[in-house]
Amino acid sequence: MKNLILEGFMGCGKSRIASELGRSIKLEVIDTDDVIERKQGRTIAKIFEESGEEAFRDMETAVLRELSDRQEGAVISLGGGMPVKSENRKLLKELGTVIYLKADSNVLIRRLQRGVEKRPMLSGHDLKERVEQLLSEREAFYEDAADIVIEIGEDDPEKIVKRIMEKAEQ
Ligand code: S3P
Repeated sequence: MKNLILEGFMGCGKSRIASELGRSIKLEVIDTDDVIERKQGRTIAKIFEESGEEAFRDMETAVLRELSDRQEGAVISLGGGMPVKSENRKLLKELGTVIYLKADSNVLIRRLQRGVEKRPMLSGHDLKERVEQLLSEREAFYEDAADIVIEIGEDDPEKIVKRIMEKAEQ
């Protein structure tokens, strides 16, 4: 089976859905943020603080390039900003089926209330304004990269996984 790649804004549940999906169809789960943290031996927040956003974005592209020779057998969960760079969107198209977990800003804001300190793109900003701003900047990139769009609403992860499987099999 071609890789299944999950994209979407911070807080949409990519990691949670990826592990449910991996478990139910017995595929390895790869989380690009985890890969970067492991390689760097420091958290995403520390990478932003010590090296800056641009260095982190380069690390993200490097991870996609490294994954590019493995187009099957994995569920890949992306950091929320991954599809912003056009080079990344091109790499994603070659890497597998891209599934956009689409949520509206109110759902995201509610879910993001906790854990802001782990997310340097949000910390130090007014949460509502920042989410609305970034989402409006990114929406077109998520749509552009997506093969499948799943509106997540308030559905629980099991239901979302079922809907992903139905669409991915078509
Ligand atoms: C980011 C999202 C984060 C992480 C980094 C930057 C973004 O991943 O990659 O903090 O720019 O949206 P999650 O979407 O898993 O929170």
